[in-house]
Amino acid sequence: MAAAPVTSPGLPHAGHPSRAVPVNEAVRLGPEILIWRRAFPGALDQAAEARRFTRFLLGSTAFADDAELVVGELAGNAVRHTRSGTPEGQFTVEITLTSPGHEPLATSAAAASVLITVYDLGGAGIPRFGDGDGVDVPCAEGGRGLAIVTALAERAGFQGAPATGHRVWAYLARRQ
Ligand SMILES: Nc1ncnc2c1ncn2[C@@H]1O[C@H](COP(=O)(O)OP(=O)(O)OP(=O)(O)O)[C@@H](O)[C@H]1O
Ligand SMILES: [Mg+2]
Repeated sequence: MAAAPVTSPGLPHAGHPSRAVPVNEAVRLGPEILIWRRAFPGALDQAAEARRFTRFLLGSTAFADDAELVVGELAGNAVRHTRSGTPEGQFTVEITLTSPGHEPLATSAAAASVLITVYDLGGAGIPRFGDGDGVDVPCAEGGRGLAIVTALAERAGFQGAPATGHRVWAYLARRQ
């Protein structure tokens, strides 16, 4: 059961702090790491809502465009390819922003990063990234979403199982 929605108008890095959006949970893990989590009803239009959520959170960062695209693809997949898209279904978006700028992470090797994770309810299949999983992803109609995610992300992958659901993730990083 998802936690009761709260709003996060004043969180650091929020792109549009004057407009409140629902956030189920916002966690600050020390000065550099912020985690936001929100559950969405399993309807197709909620992929667009998840994109807006991402834009709201990351709008002031260099990740906004890529993160919005990635969230849209992963959320769309959760709704279209899993039980998340059934009438009682839902999916959850989690965004972890790491922005070094404080000791001890503020070194030349430090990179700002965003880890995007979308949790679904599972279904008949598994996410097919088309790279070494032995399955050709059709190109003519569909099958581009995870390729786009892979192209934008430094790393991407998934864990889970069709019976229990998957978490599909993408890691975006920028050198400071
Ligand atoms: N969360 C998921 N759970 C189970 N299967 C998935 C999930 N995400 C993707 N898939 C499978 O991986 C395939 C590839 O996904 P991908 O997003 O690349 O293409 P698509 O969703 O079929 O088309 P589109 O180009 O519109 O995104 C899907 O067709 C589906 O079979
Ligand atoms: Mg897709």
